[in-house]
Amino acid sequence: MSKIDENVDYKEEILRLKKEKNAVILAHYYQVGAIQEIADFVGDSLALSKQAAGTDANIIVFAGVHFMAETAKIVNPSKKVLLPDLNAGCSLSESCNAADFEVFRAKHPGYLAVTYINCSAEVKALSDIICTSSNARKIIESIPKDQPILFSPDRNLGKYLIEVTGRNLLLWDGACMVHEAFSFEKLVALQKKHPNAKVVAHPESETNILRLAHFIGSTSAMLDFVKSDLCQEFLIATEAGILHQMMKEVPDKILIPVPAKENNTCACSECPYMKMNTMQKLYECLLNESPEITLDAILISKALVPLEHMFELSK
Ligand code: 13P
Ligand code: SF4
Repeated sequence: MSKIDENVDYKEEILRLKKEKNAVILAHYYQVGAIQEIADFVGDSLALSKQAAGTDANIIVFAGVHFMAETAKIVNPSKKVLLPDLNAGCSLSESCNAADFEVFRAKHPGYLAVTYINCSAEVKALSDIICTSSNARKIIESIPKDQPILFSPDRNLGKYLIEVTGRNLLLWDGACMVHEAFSFEKLVALQKKHPNAKVVAHPESETNILRLAHFIGSTSAMLDFVKSDLCQEFLIATEAGILHQMMKEVPDKILIPVPAKENNTCACSECPYMKMNTMQKLYECLLNESPEITLDAILISKALVPLEHMFELSK
């Protein structure tokens, strides 16, 4: 990475290059505010994958993490897909490597593999149906009750799904390092200080946090809830990037991020992978058309099948 050039107006240059190259910038809610502001579309994992599938731009710049950019390539393989920092991974995706997942599947013949979108293309290719936090419940409920299911890789989302659907899912033992880090004690203390506040949590959070939540949903669903609910104060248990859109949508409401266990300085939780993308990297990746996501054509065709099942089942 080259050093910051103070003569470059990154915002202006990104907008110019985007137009010149017919590129679209898709950003997840956990990106820094400046990237969310310059993006053509900001959304949760499901909405971003749909945008990627439907775009007629020549280049998709994915301001998110690696599995999201890979998903964009799988659903729209003729496009050039760029990721500002190739090291922008995901602890959940990394907790589930394809070789171990293949063994897990082989040990459980007759099970259907429903896999969270936070996984590699190889793991997707070994799965039956992909889901995101916004459609996981609907997808599990669409599967016949006598069909045994493997749910991977997020054990917290899996436990939540077991609770709300009453299904006996066999879980992979993975977790999101950001959503697992919320402190139950600090949340209880915050609730005492703000007795009228509603707790809003992402289902990747641990069960003790979810038990205190008034609303559980994907990043987009949390945003909708905060917008539509009459309550004026919310304790937000997800990555702090969502506060950018929330503060824009509900400037008069009080939004308090739930602190992490080990976090004594900053009052919020940030995903170190999501925050690897910067305006400078976004500019350089558009300028150089690199780093690019490339995937083997056979892998793309195999990984597309469970993603198409997801699109079909979440209509
Ligand atoms: P959603 O965007 O589906 O809410 O997922 C959150 C997340 O952790 C993405 O990595
Ligand atoms: Fe992965 Fe968690 Fe970061 Fe999302 S917030 S990209 S699940 S580590």
